[in-house]
Amino acid sequence: MTTLHSSKPLLPLESSASWRDRLATRIDRWMTSPALYQWVLTNPLTRWMVRRRSKQLFEVMAGFVHSQVLLACVRLRLLELVLAQPRTLVELSSLTQLPAAGLQRLLDSAVSMRLLALRGGDRYGLGSLGAPVVAHPGIRDMVEHNATLYEDLRDPLALLRDPDQARMHAYWPYTDHQAGAPQPKAPEAQFARYSALMATSQRFVIDELLAAYPFSEHRCVLDVGGGMGGWVTALARHQPGLQLQLFDLPPVADLAREQIRRQGLAARITAFGGSFTEDPLPTGADLVTLVRVAHDHDDATVLALLRAIQTALPMGGTLLLAEPMAQGDGQASSTDPYFHFYLMAMGSGRLRTPQALGALMTRAGFNHIELAPNPMPLHAQLLVGRKTKCFPSDSTRCVHLD
Ligand SMILES: C[S@@+](CC[C@H](N)C(=O)[O-])C[C@H]1O[C@@H](n2cnc3c(N)ncnc32)[C@H](O)[C@@H]1O
Repeated sequence: MTTLHSSKPLLPLESSASWRDRLATRIDRWMTSPALYQWVLTNPLTRWMVRRRSKQLFEVMAGFVHSQVLLACVRLRLLELVLAQPRTLVELSSLTQLPAAGLQRLLDSAVSMRLLALRGGDRYGLGSLGAPVVAHPGIRDMVEHNATLYEDLRDPLALLRDPDQARMHAYWPYTDHQAGAPQPKAPEAQFARYSALMATSQRFVIDELLAAYPFSEHRCVLDVGGGMGGWVTALARHQPGLQLQLFDLPPVADLAREQIRRQGLAARITAFGGSFTEDPLPTGADLVTLVRVAHDHDDATVLALLRAIQTALPMGGTLLLAEPMAQGDGQASSTDPYFHFYLMAMGSGRLRTPQALGALMTRAGFNHIELAPNPMPLHAQLLVGRKTKCFPSDSTRCVHLD
């Protein structure tokens, strides 16, 4: 595991910052100079740079078309149709009831995006990127769900000015409350709708968690914001010696209880209904998991929640926090913009770096904070913190990031 103990100064020294800024400003001018652009383009040794940058920029500009091609493929179940057997344009036109001329454009686009691939006899088969979409219902559900975000992003400036108007905001009933305030009331169907989406999209995170952390070291695990129980039931099957608890809003805990009962795990898993902004958390667990929960909430709520988890854990207990995290340090990331805008449209919460989350954990009283290695950090990165006695003299083991 990587200990979040930074030896770098938090702010660059004044002189090096201004030296770097001056150089960066000069490079900015070169990069936008038409004369230099022409020179780089005509020089065989540098031409590749402009080509690569143009291609990258075109991909950024065209991203909205790519997402809609994917949505069309999902809605038409095109990938399933060609998985059953490679098919011609005429066959697909008849199966999807779309005119061949339009469908041809969709198929050509899907081939160039590697969702489909050309096969012999002018047939279309599954492409390398189409395979995971067919294999995982969670991806298809998210593609369909993203249509809501797409609507919200139609006017990005309107969204930035007034995120409360976003349709995504109305989708998530629990994002409307302030820290410490009671949960707003919403129809049960609304809880069931987002919980079903979470259940299918959680599959990847479950696999990552099971591969990354030694759960056998624990006796009892509490999953806070555990949704319909996909994670606790998978963990129960993976570790037959564990007792488990789940805590979520009452309508969601009811759904989880039903899932747990159906899977014959009621003797090992207890589902508690409540709100972590109002109610104490159940005690008895020596490991608390917080999976894709913190990023939904603002700092004040997350800090109060982390403090409640710290209180609920015994001395020596552990918190395992798993969610998508920001790259930070000005690094390029193709996934960060999605989560930044998704969480803004949702109406609360934000994408945090591991350092920002680690700082909140430290403020809540956790120490020995580490990043657990995760081979696929796209769906979640994993942060582990311990509740231990921490003495000032033991400064190498007590990690304070703020
Ligand atoms: C984004 S979902 C993640 C669910 C699940 N952990 C997963 O990864 O699929 C966040 C969960 O936190 C729950 N939640 C939100 N606010 C809550 C609160 N105040 N008290 C308890 N649970 C809450 C939601 O009901 C939802 O199940």
